[in-house]
Amino acid sequence: MASPETKIRLDFEHAAPIEPESLEVDASAARRRLEEASGPGKEFLGWLDLPARSLEANLLDAIESAAGRIRERDALVVVGIGGSYLGARAVIEALQTPFAPTFPIYYAGHQMDAAYHGGLLARLAEQDYAVNVISKSGTTTEPGLAFRLLWQDVSGKHDGAALKDRIFATTDAKKGSLRSLADAAGLTSFVIPDDVGGRFSVFSPVGLLPIAVAGIDVRALLAGAREMQEMLRSEAAANFAESPALQYAAYRNACYRLGKKIEIMAGYQTAWTFVMEWWKQLYGESEGKEGRGIFPASVNLSTDLHSMGQWIQDAERTIFETVIDVVHQEGPSVPARSDDEDGLGYLAGRPLHEINRTALKATMAAHHEGGVPCARLELQQLNAPTMGALLYFFEYACGISAYMLDVNPFDQPGVEAYKSSMFRLLGKTGHG
Ligand code: PA5
Repeated sequence: MASPETKIRLDFEHAAPIEPESLEVDASAARRRLEEASGPGKEFLGWLDLPARSLEANLLDAIESAAGRIRERDALVVVGIGGSYLGARAVIEALQTPFAPTFPIYYAGHQMDAAYHGGLLARLAEQDYAVNVISKSGTTTEPGLAFRLLWQDVSGKHDGAALKDRIFATTDAKKGSLRSLADAAGLTSFVIPDDVGGRFSVFSPVGLLPIAVAGIDVRALLAGAREMQEMLRSEAAANFAESPALQYAAYRNACYRLGKKIEIMAGYQTAWTFVMEWWKQLYGESEGKEGRGIFPASVNLSTDLHSMGQWIQDAERTIFETVIDVVHQEGPSVPARSDDEDGLGYLAGRPLHEINRTALKATMAAHHEGGVPCARLELQQLNAPTMGALLYFFEYACGISAYMLDVNPFDQPGVEAYKSSMFRLLGKTGHG
């Protein structure tokens, strides 16, 4: 069961005219498809109990030992794209302050920007760094190219045991060129379970190894996720009033059916930037198919109130908003001044977080007034267990929501289109 700390609560006070409970029956039917494995993509439901599985297997000792070896180096480069990198980056960037990262982590292979990769290699020239290359298929072009560059660099500096101590692979148990390469080179490798797709893999070694290297407590992250897993999958949570996942899936689909086709996720802490990128991939790739799907967008507030705020308040009324509200957060209070020349004396003594939350409430009310249904997603605080709980919550609600849209949440046929067009133009054999 979710403890008070990892509990997620949804508040629909500013969601009218949306009534999530009007889709209670549909949401419950979609949940049954997920739980009974009777929907499309049922062979990819391994993520449903992944937090518990990862906690119970011997996996964590191996992950922590590899993380310890990596932390003996100067830095780690995480090579991966999409679901093979966003979960780790989301957790790492959310749980450590940007001003004092506990261990330097760079990302590569999440695009093919020549200047970025050239700059990264230059930055690494004098460093003794490790690489964690992550690809389920083991054949994805972007991470494949980045790994080729990094392999050339590391193998030019080290060989034998020293090389093997610097390159770690996370991939399929048997298939793909990364698996063959890892086995041929005798690299330490971790397995992505067959029944877990990329965007649902954050609680597998895909996310856990880089997160552990960052010094984040992966056991606490998984414990929070397992609490949410047990709560959302319990018999009690078949009841709409007891399940935030049913409520969130119903809310989004009720908005969509009313012509609100774009969901804007709003975060009021910088910590949410990459969590929202992860969320966009999870929902966009799971739902956007067969001519259907809610377009997931995100804003960092209050920053983007000075760029996108005008659009949200006043433009075409095709959007709805989901706002992440963190109840408790440490930080400074506004200092007093003997004069009041900046006109902010009325805020003196008040915690910055309280002011930020007031801005959140005021902005939600204004957006709602402007015709945007808004839901508030309340978290008690931001730490490893609550982050685990939140990510699992989003995954579970995504499965329900995609089944409500009547699409297969676990495939991504559209992604293949750009690949075959690119391979044809690049001249890859078999793509003429
Ligand atoms: O969610 C997904 O399945 C995708 O986003 C993949 O994670 C992404 O395309 C990377 O694939 P791979 O891990 O095979 O390199």
